[in-house]
Amino acid sequence: MLEQVTKVHDESRQGEAFAPESAADQTYQKKFYIESYGCQMNFNDSEIVASILNQEGFGATRNFEEADLVLLNTCSIRDKAEQTVRKRLQEFRKIKQSNPGLLVGVLGCMAERLKAKLLEEEKLVDMVVGPDAYRTLPALIEEAETGQKAVNVLLSREETYADINPVRLDSNGVTAFVSIMRGCNNMCTFCVVPFTRGRERSRDPYSIIQEATDMFNRNYREVTLLGQNVDSYYWVGVSPENGQEETITFASLLEKVALISPLLRVRFSTSHPKDITDDVLHTMAKYENICNYIHLPVQSGSTRVLQLMNRTYTREWYMKKVERIRELLPDCGLSTDIITGFCTETEEDHQDTLSMMEFARYDLAYMFFYSERPGTLAARRYQDDVPEEVKKRRLSEVVELHRRQALESMQKDLGKTFKVLIEGTSKRSEQDLFGRNDQNKVIVFPREHYEKGQYVQVKVTDCTAATLIGKVV
Ligand code: 5AD
Ligand code: SF4
Repeated sequence: MLEQVTKVHDESRQGEAFAPESAADQTYQKKFYIESYGCQMNFNDSEIVASILNQEGFGATRNFEEADLVLLNTCSIRDKAEQTVRKRLQEFRKIKQSNPGLLVGVLGCMAERLKAKLLEEEKLVDMVVGPDAYRTLPALIEEAETGQKAVNVLLSREETYADINPVRLDSNGVTAFVSIMRGCNNMCTFCVVPFTRGRERSRDPYSIIQEATDMFNRNYREVTLLGQNVDSYYWVGVSPENGQEETITFASLLEKVALISPLLRVRFSTSHPKDITDDVLHTMAKYENICNYIHLPVQSGSTRVLQLMNRTYTREWYMKKVERIRELLPDCGLSTDIITGFCTETEEDHQDTLSMMEFARYDLAYMFFYSERPGTLAARRYQDDVPEEVKKRRLSEVVELHRRQALESMQKDLGKTFKVLIEGTSKRSEQDLFGRNDQNKVIVFPREHYEKGQYVQVKVTDCTAATLIGKVV
């Protein structure tokens, strides 16, 4: 179970090939195969890409051997993520040798970071397409089909793909992600995202509501609103409802989505501690269908390190935020991201991170050791001076503490009854179903006559550090 708690964002899905269940669709003349790496945003982008390619006569396949086009939607957040993609490209090199007509494209953050350099480094790559250039994929494919290398890594200040209806590629038919903004303006010094995904921009709220409503009408029962920093969502425009100019903040957007139906659960990720407002917390408290779960990355517990990271809050400020969340939403689930061994981090700073964890009692944490990314502010300004074995030792201490805390958090739920949205069959047993409670904890329980998409009340009888186990009451 330990792996599960310590996994990076959805690592279980890293590199997963995906296509809709009905992938054997004969209406398409050509086939594309796509693998996605990294954050949820990337997985959602692949669904936008699928929609664009469908329009061009490309159907998705889960089998790369029958594909005319292979796409890797890549991540640059840590060096390891890029190495994984490089290895995968090596494998496709072999496949291309036996199928010279195959086109290989690199999408996403690695494409943006390395640009045309990627074509020199990885000879088999035909196309390099950055996250804001997916609309030009049809033209790029045409260019690549003539034997030329095709590159578009232009970043945009406006592109939100608002009008593109994502094709749900690997969906359980119950839960879906909806992008509400793109890019990031925060400039955390360790982070490559502002360089690979560009400036922050918010998507038209009415296209978001339409997409979420459409999902609900197709029997989806949960949407997660996605953005690098959802709390800075901000849109000014003319309301189609009354023709007046209006300003939509994240709190008002959240409310609008919650009002679609009380049967539609709403989640969101990621929140920046500096931007999450009381308004958002009050809105969460007001609507039962907005789930009480906040992903609030702390990164470090030391004010000195936080300053070097340009997180713009102090240790005390973060703690006050946690207290405020607990005050307004007493049963709120809380998760975090932590980096160990950032530039100049001392043992004392590290102890501050451990004591922050003791204070916040996170239900879930994604933990990493610092990986310097070329071009970031930290790479330019500071020395990556904490030895790798120290970074890793500190990481293992953080992981160990989290493992204990995660188990305690689960044990506190023994005997409680939760409303659970059923997402599907348990990975371990056909006889069991699984779903999540409000706080985002996974609960496994006997199937009986229940089905996915239903809400049930489940009483918790047992647990591991990653999963609650119970029975419908
Ligand atoms: N090294 C290690 N972890 C990083 N993250 C972002 N950049 C780096 C880096 N250079 C982590 C942060 C962020 C999460 C998505 O990835 O914790 O919140
Ligand atoms: Fe990176 Fe910071 Fe933006 Fe998150 S908020 S994407 S860590 S720059």
